Amino acid sequence: MSLSISLTVNGLPRTVALDDPRVTLLDLLRERLDLPGTKKGCDRGQCGACTVLVDGRRINSCLSLAASLDGAEVTTIEGLADGDTLHPVQAAFIAHDGFQCGYCTPGQIMSAVGLIAEGHAGDDPERIRELMSGNICRCGAYQGITEAVLDAQKTNADSHRKDAA
Ligand code: FES
Ligand code: FES
Repeated sequence: MSLSISLTVNGLPRTVALDDPRVTLLDLLRERLDLPGTKKGCDRGQCGACTVLVDGRRINSCLSLAASLDGAEVTTIEGLADGDTLHPVQAAFIAHDGFQCGYCTPGQIMSAVGLIAEGHAGDDPERIRELMSGNICRCGAYQGITEAVLDAQKTNADSHRKDAA
């Protein structure tokens, strides 16, 4: 029996028929919606390569059943930039060399966007490392990643201060 779900993905409404109710959000994004930016690492919730935002919260898309997300708003790495203008977290990753092979990078960036939105990382690198600990980088680019998150978080806080002024 096929099940139809509707999602908003990167701002666009998408309706998908699921032949198998066990299909994960990760496979739906990569194989059905042609959004391969979200990476499949472990496929079992241990590496964070598949991190996306669902209704603004970061999740491992390999552990999420697409069928349970009818009506949800999903943001993937493809949805972050505004035209040719990179999202501040993407720009900070480039500025701080926050990737080497880059395989984990989409998940790291989505996780960073999520944790900055959660607003409880502060400016403590150790706290940021802890909050990003679900995202594994085999190249060990952690120093650059932490610096990028700190930088993007500061930019975000500054822009909030300007908005409030
Ligand atoms: S692929 Fe989802 S956590 Fe590794
Ligand atoms: S940059 Fe290669 S796994 Fe992180």
